[in-house]
Amino acid sequence: MKRALLTYGSVIQLQARQNVIASRSKLVVAVQATRKQHADTAGQKIKSPVCSYNEWDPLDEVIVGRPENACVPPLTHEVKAITSHQQWEFFRKFGGQFFPQEHVKKAVSQIEEMCNVLRHEGVTVRRPDIVDWSKTYETPDFKSKGMYAAMPRDILIVIGEEIIEAPMAWRSRFFEYRAYRSLMKEYFQAGAKWTTAPKPLMSDELYDQNYPMEYVKDRHNLASEGHFKQCCATSHKKKLWKVTNLFGIEWMARHLGPDYNVHLLQFKDSKPMHIDATFNAVGPGLVIVNPDRPCLQSEMFNKAGWKLVKAPKPMVPDDHPLWMSSKWLSMNVLMLDERRVMVCKHEIPTIRMFESLGIKAIPVDIRFANSLGGGFHCWTTDVRRRGVLESYF
Ligand code: NVA
Repeated sequence: MKRALLTYGSVIQLQARQNVIASRSKLVVAVQATRKQHADTAGQKIKSPVCSYNEWDPLDEVIVGRPENACVPPLTHEVKAITSHQQWEFFRKFGGQFFPQEHVKKAVSQIEEMCNVLRHEGVTVRRPDIVDWSKTYETPDFKSKGMYAAMPRDILIVIGEEIIEAPMAWRSRFFEYRAYRSLMKEYFQAGAKWTTAPKPLMSDELYDQNYPMEYVKDRHNLASEGHFKQCCATSHKKKLWKVTNLFGIEWMARHLGPDYNVHLLQFKDSKPMHIDATFNAVGPGLVIVNPDRPCLQSEMFNKAGWKLVKAPKPMVPDDHPLWMSSKWLSMNVLMLDERRVMVCKHEIPTIRMFESLGIKAIPVDIRFANSLGGGFHCWTTDVRRRGVLESYF
């Protein structure tokens, strides 16, 4: 029996009550399974076009998100829970409208260039459909406007030969899957196992309206008294922090079945959303860690002989808009294989860190795209990496 570590780096994020699935796709899971092939209806073995066991095997195919038509999410409770207080005025003013157009244009051309570099490095690049995100929609439970299809890693995860679509945690992202339908159908028809996890209703009952986040002071108190759970959550004195969701974790663990181990990791973080600017596994036994957000389970990795390397301080200037993230996107990198990393060309200390680890930096500039909330890791989903299951713990 072998094991692989899949570190699809994000959070089961959000202010959701615990009995509703509101997970995003990024989980740290240790996978224990032998590789299986699916059989088609005639009983013949077919090979899946999606296949990945970790985030550092040679990358063959990747989905890169789109900034086109990106809309600012309305400032709802769940958005407040993870965005910086300083950005709230921006959300109040522009919620439901397109992000500043000049800025998005620059993001579009930076992402095009990123795609070109990926192709040059031998990776097949796929893109979601262009969707008009400005339309208002209504379900029996809520009304909202859309956001974007910029961060495929938030919604899609490949585990073995299966691609799983996560339900989104924000109302403004409820219909985000529509941008990926053409791709999903194509992968399915070519032999992939395709799963969509159950969507939450997202009615008012989902959210804890008393979550104390109005003041910076409150956020600080919360951060210092508790452990915000990034990937997964456990209860703390029977109280679940509302930024995570046990239901989603439970669903994923049961869905993957007894062959898979799902490890819960906890971090000290005042604005927990997505693990990949906090803890980013970049090689077998190698993880880049955020020095400001210590992992409470570091021992598990140390014991298994992993090397935990602290990410250098980010170089993003203070006046560069980051509407939905911290500057730690500097460590939100994409491994093309164990020895090549796509990294921000302005993050010289990070580039040097990788070089000191014997990893060649492929420097690319997506600073304007970063403003929409993600780095190279967030802007992509690995579809196919060449590798096999291995044991890391
Ligand atoms: N929300 C986290 C992760 C972003 C990928 C941060 O801002 O650092």
